[in-house]
Amino acid sequence: MERDIERVLVSTDEIAARVREMGNRLAADLMDRMPAEERADGSSVVLVPIMTGAVVFLADLMREMPLKMRLGLVAVTSYPGKSLESKGASISSELPADLGGKHVVIVDDILDSGQTLALVRRLIAEQAPASLSACVLLEKKREHAEGVSAEYVGFTIPDEFVVGYGLDYDGQYRNYPAIATLKPERVREAGPNSPA
Ligand code: IMP
Ligand code: MG
Repeated sequence: MERDIERVLVSTDEIAARVREMGNRLAADLMDRMPAEERADGSSVVLVPIMTGAVVFLADLMREMPLKMRLGLVAVTSYPGKSLESKGASISSELPADLGGKHVVIVDDILDSGQTLALVRRLIAEQAPASLSACVLLEKKREHAEGVSAEYVGFTIPDEFVVGYGLDYDGQYRNYPAIATLKPERVREAGPNSPA
């Protein structure tokens, strides 16, 4: 795996420090939004991670949030196989159905074209949650669909294809512990004339 890596953009130590800050900040903001009895009860906070890219970030982030919460997973497909660009987001699992009145935080690895977040935000908003925010580890410096944004952003990175810490290329490199670019010879966009 290591030999396929070109350049590390965000190191494991930088990620760990930032995720700790984000978790604490997010938890504090959620506490502020809840009346005392709701805080103690803790039944109104739901994190909605977007599978599969969010898994690593989610696991670290939620353990930096000292409050009661539940998870409601959603799966969205946007980069099938060897593609390096979003092919348009579509929901490939049921959305959690009980988000009305809850404090919902969408968690994703990266805000890129924005199609994924725009779609998930819209569908969750239809359930009338008490509050809705989005938390992404990375945001690419580019325009996002529908001008969508995330309230919590770990790092802004250049508009390059990256892997690691949950982000994949053709299903691989999710377990690489830092955010990095791949060597160009490892990255072959699947097109009509390219070998599979
Ligand atoms: P968007 O809909 O284009 O914003 O894409 C969001 C999803 O595409 C993310 O949840 C990632 O899973 C995936 N994605 C976007 N950029 C990259 C990248 O540079 N490397 C790997 N996956 C990416
Ligand atoms: Mg994803």
